[in-house]
Amino acid sequence: MAERRHSIHGMWTSRLAFILAVTGSAVGLGNIWKFPYVAGDSGGGAFVLIYLACVALVGLPIMMSEVLLGRRGRRNPITTMRDLGDEEAGQRFWQIVGWSGVIAGFLILSFYSVIAGWTLAYVPRMVTGGFANISPEGSEAAFGALVGDWEKLLGWHTLFMAMTVLVVARGVEKGLEAAVRYLMPALFTLLLVMMGYAMTIDWGTEALEAASGGSSPFMAGLSYLFSPDWSKVTPGIVIAALGQAFFTLSIGMGAVMTYGAYLPQRTSITNTTVTVVLADTAVAIVAGVIIFPIVFANGLDAGSGPGLVFQTLPLAFGSMAGGTVFGTLFFILLVFAAWTSSIGLIEPAVAWLVEKKNMTRGVAAWTVGGIIWILGLASIFSFNILSGFQPFGWEKTIFDMLDYLTSNIMLPMGGLLIAVFAGWVMSRNSTSEELAVGTGWIFQTWSFLTRYVAPLAVLAVFLNATGLLDGIIG
Ligand code: PHE
Repeated sequence: MAERRHSIHGMWTSRLAFILAVTGSAVGLGNIWKFPYVAGDSGGGAFVLIYLACVALVGLPIMMSEVLLGRRGRRNPITTMRDLGDEEAGQRFWQIVGWSGVIAGFLILSFYSVIAGWTLAYVPRMVTGGFANISPEGSEAAFGALVGDWEKLLGWHTLFMAMTVLVVARGVEKGLEAAVRYLMPALFTLLLVMMGYAMTIDWGTEALEAASGGSSPFMAGLSYLFSPDWSKVTPGIVIAALGQAFFTLSIGMGAVMTYGAYLPQRTSITNTTVTVVLADTAVAIVAGVIIFPIVFANGLDAGSGPGLVFQTLPLAFGSMAGGTVFGTLFFILLVFAAWTSSIGLIEPAVAWLVEKKNMTRGVAAWTVGGIIWILGLASIFSFNILSGFQPFGWEKTIFDMLDYLTSNIMLPMGGLLIAVFAGWVMSRNSTSEELAVGTGWIFQTWSFLTRYVAPLAVLAVFLNATGLLDGIIG
């Protein structure tokens, strides 16, 4: 057995602390903001089922692999992948996985922080009752006014980046753990309350009711989310579902690997990752089950893009009893969910600077945060002064491009390499020792999914999306 390494950043104080931290990283804007809007853009049902399959068959084994690699390496993802590559196969180039992860983290956080800024902006709007009895048009206009104003977006983005840096600068136990313990359960409880509300809402107009064929908005939402129309599936929808699975689970970029580095040796990787994946998926599905009934009850367009959640939820809060209180609480909790995720995005780079460049955590956090803050300007402007700018002849704004490049390409690529490394390059001795589940069916299943299913699925989706697969099988 290789000599055990130690993390210099400290350790999670318990199994629960680790679960909370990874759940904190996984559950974020990806579940509540992104999942509903990408599902809406992709036409619902079929997308959702493909996404669920990707989570179970690709996401879970890759998350287990990441934790395993992180704990074995006990360093930032760059050093961990270099050390393990060296140790297992004499190959140091596996550090490329760490590098691409750090870069993906920078790019993702640069737009993530801007969206988290929208969430922040909605808190005072809720507190002051600004959305009471608001109409669908009013809600759309309010959202438009926010994103159209780059100075406001810049202010909120700056505040959110500062919040992220402050927590990361405090270090693993003090900063990360404290933020998740109570807030995640609170968020989930509030989501369940809102789901109860979504079950009771009525059609906004008689015309909508007449067109509904007798079902309630809630049933219409459920059927939109879960009844697939396979004929509408395109390569674009499949790649969006795969990308969403990676994004929402925080995998493919070393965030989970970094958290695994702080995991005590005895803790079960299987149990903890299964718990996180279930929790993350439950939050996304519940968010969808809340949003779509509101969309249909008000005759809105499910495919209205990144503004979807910000335009629909105020309608619910504006018309429900206690809406001001619930609405305020909801956006505060969403800020916290985004906050605990942003920490996962920045931690790999910070850990690298601390370990390799001997910076203090504080200096490292402010340095990385500053660079990401500047990168964020591109996303801010792509919602207003540069909204018509679509570089490289791609029909995407800078924000859309960054999102596509990271979620749909960089994370699955990183995940593919992680699966190949854990499944093929590492010896079975090493992986089974680290997973510590013996060599029974759990290990066999993980091994099969990691060696065959996950890499082939990612490859197939890529080839399919670039049209190459058509050429090969057609
Ligand atoms: N999983 C987070 C979310 O769903 C986003 C994230 C991606 C966080 C990658 C860390 C790493 O909001």
